[in-house]
Amino acid sequence: MHVVIAREAGFCFGVKLAIEQAFEAAGQAGGQAIHTLGPLIHNPPTIQKLMQVGVVPVDRLDQVPGGTVVIRSHGVPKQIKQGAKDLGLDVVDATCPFVTRVQNAVARLSKEGCFVVVVGDASHPEVVGIVSHIVGPHKVMSGRDDLEGIPVQTRKIGVVAQTTMRPDRFKEVICQLLDRCNELTVINTICDATEIKQSDARVQAATVDAMLVVGGKNSSNTRKLAQICAEVQPNTHHIETADEIDSAWFAQVDSVGVTAGASTPDWLIDEVVVRLRALGGDTVDDLRTSAEEQARQVQDQLAKLQ
Ligand code: F3S
Repeated sequence: MHVVIAREAGFCFGVKLAIEQAFEAAGQAGGQAIHTLGPLIHNPPTIQKLMQVGVVPVDRLDQVPGGTVVIRSHGVPKQIKQGAKDLGLDVVDATCPFVTRVQNAVARLSKEGCFVVVVGDASHPEVVGIVSHIVGPHKVMSGRDDLEGIPVQTRKIGVVAQTTMRPDRFKEVICQLLDRCNELTVINTICDATEIKQSDARVQAATVDAMLVVGGKNSSNTRKLAQICAEVQPNTHHIETADEIDSAWFAQVDSVGVTAGASTPDWLIDEVVVRLRALGGDTVDDLRTSAEEQARQVQDQLAKLQ
């Protein structure tokens, strides 16, 4: 049986970077606990591993007793970051570079005199952080009909999107805003990591005899990934850990594909591969992009977007 691990399986670049930075900071803290503002990731086994090396999540800055605080990939409001510095904490800023780009974009748009629109979920931590960089009139729009509060004849509107916004919904909002202003500046700040992962999984699932999708049953992006794979490969199974694998799934199977949700760490994927090897997986193609390659691709992408 041939096993193929998808190129885009597991963490996106931003999450990978944040986890690496947290482990590194913990190593440098010499046994002292360090803190993250909110959990770095919605994956309990990974949070447990981080806690074992002294990375403790807290909800608020006033719960950090001292030392190092790590800002997660969603980012935080700029006042919180400043507050951490004022308290004398060592700040490890693991905000994803794509999120930082949105924060910088809204700051620039408001400086240029735009009414700033952020298309996204107003209560999401990423959006809360982005909004803190706006100086002046602004609105978070959840969708095309959410126009209340945007003056009808606005001179200049600048619009950005939450990084995980669906492109079709962003386009719908842009069309609505066109009718409200003389000048519209659109900065497409959508991160395509999710879309790339899904299309990669769809292609892979169509070329193998069985597909495993690894990730939390409560992870919406993993469930979506499993659903996409199941549409093209009925022998698709959504598992949280290697223990759930049933050898009966692989009767008459020559090839198995493995992919994983954005909150699934590499070590959980590796455990699945070990189990597949034990069940007759004699060749393994690991197509996962290395962290270095991912970092290089992101730097290239960001350079092009400047
Ligand atoms: Fe991940 Fe950053 Fe995109 S956290 S989903 S690479 S915005």
